[in-house]
Amino acid sequence: MDTPTVLVIIGVTGDLSKRKLLPAIGEMAGAGVLPKRFRIVGITRQQTVTLPGILEGVRNAGHIRENMALFPMSLEDAADYERLRSYLLTIDGAWGAGAQRLWYLAIPPTTAWPIIEHLGLSGLSQVPHTKLLLEKPFGVDRKSAEELVTHVERSFATEQVYRIDHYLAKETVQNIVVFRQDNSLFERTWNRDAIERIDILASETIGVEGRGAFYEQTGALRDLIQSHLLQLAALTLMTLPKDGEWQRIPAARSALLGTLHVDPESIRRGQYAGYRTEVNNPASMVETFVSLTLFSTDARWRDVPITLTTGKALSEKKTEIVVTYRRAGAAQPNRLTLRLQPNEGVELCFFAKRPGYDRMIERVPLAFTYADHFAALPDAYEHVFLDAVRGDHTLFASSAEVLESWRIVDAVRNAWEPDSDTLVLYPKGATPAHVLAGNSENETIPACITRTR
Ligand code: BG6
Repeated sequence: MDTPTVLVIIGVTGDLSKRKLLPAIGEMAGAGVLPKRFRIVGITRQQTVTLPGILEGVRNAGHIRENMALFPMSLEDAADYERLRSYLLTIDGAWGAGAQRLWYLAIPPTTAWPIIEHLGLSGLSQVPHTKLLLEKPFGVDRKSAEELVTHVERSFATEQVYRIDHYLAKETVQNIVVFRQDNSLFERTWNRDAIERIDILASETIGVEGRGAFYEQTGALRDLIQSHLLQLAALTLMTLPKDGEWQRIPAARSALLGTLHVDPESIRRGQYAGYRTEVNNPASMVETFVSLTLFSTDARWRDVPITLTTGKALSEKKTEIVVTYRRAGAAQPNRLTLRLQPNEGVELCFFAKRPGYDRMIERVPLAFTYADHFAALPDAYEHVFLDAVRGDHTLFASSAEVLESWRIVDAVRNAWEPDSDTLVLYPKGATPAHVLAGNSENETIPACITRTR
């Protein structure tokens, strides 16, 4: 890649930068896919931070260190933005070219707000080839998201803004489009005539892991449903752009989100035991588990329930999309699972005659796993960074999508707020079915298992 690129990371000492972004850059350095002229400028308020400290444990740290500098500054001081501007110009000067600049705001949006303003007022947002990368959550409801969109657009043009939803950039999530687009067998039956229901699950074993203050403001609904799970639903249900035009996918996702509405009766929420102590709020009613069913007004999906379920401190880490086909006769339904993580792959449950003298039917899997066919998958943040460098918006959330998903989430909150005692307490390590069924062992989504009749 030839475009000279400067990556300015605001929040370089933060968790996201250390856990995700810098390791992704380390991997890309190893794979030789970084731009030839590439520099990272890590912005920090702390004078005592060092590069070796920040890069500890990052692969190819040596390569990054050669191309990285720390720039201590106050993010509230206009004069410091002037100093930064001069510093960035020295990099352009040394390269004899105006580099593209990626401003990566690896910080919560509330903190990002004044920084965006400073970038606008200082004129830094207007420098040619400047891009802004923002982390979720984009607001806390539709109204605040609209305000954030307007605020950002005062300083940056639409095409300069990249809203990161790292799920969109996961290999297995990108594969939803390929799976549908390039396997006519499935796409031809991808509708209400053949499909009975769709269940999307993201269960995590971790709790809030020291992010109590953030989570108290957010909860599972805003943290996972508003962004990741609604995006998965959109990719699964959207009308595929003709001729494989990937750049039209954000518009397709957004159009689909516009057709979704929640069934208020379906909403269930829970909180894991011990959460209140962890966040030091004995009265907290924040949900760490949520499940809800959506319906689409798109004729293709009319009356097909689309259930989204997510929770923390559950029995296993698992993200998957389960498509249940309509039954033929008395048989159990065929079930197609797109397993996004872990054990990434695709599995179809179908029926076979069990060899023997009796007519016995078994439900057996037809399975593909990435691990059997491909090398390790690149991390989502590698795609995030590379696509922003290339100026490809496909794997980023547009403002229209963000607003549509807040519309849905606001409707869920309106449905539960008047009746806030509907929070189920569940033990750590529970299964989603456990939480939903109030501790019964009913499996709502059985795996591909052997059945006889
Ligand atoms: C983040 C959420 O966006 O996604 C976290 O804020 C969650 O709460 C994480 O743990 C899950 O991401 P992944 O890639 O581990 O499924």
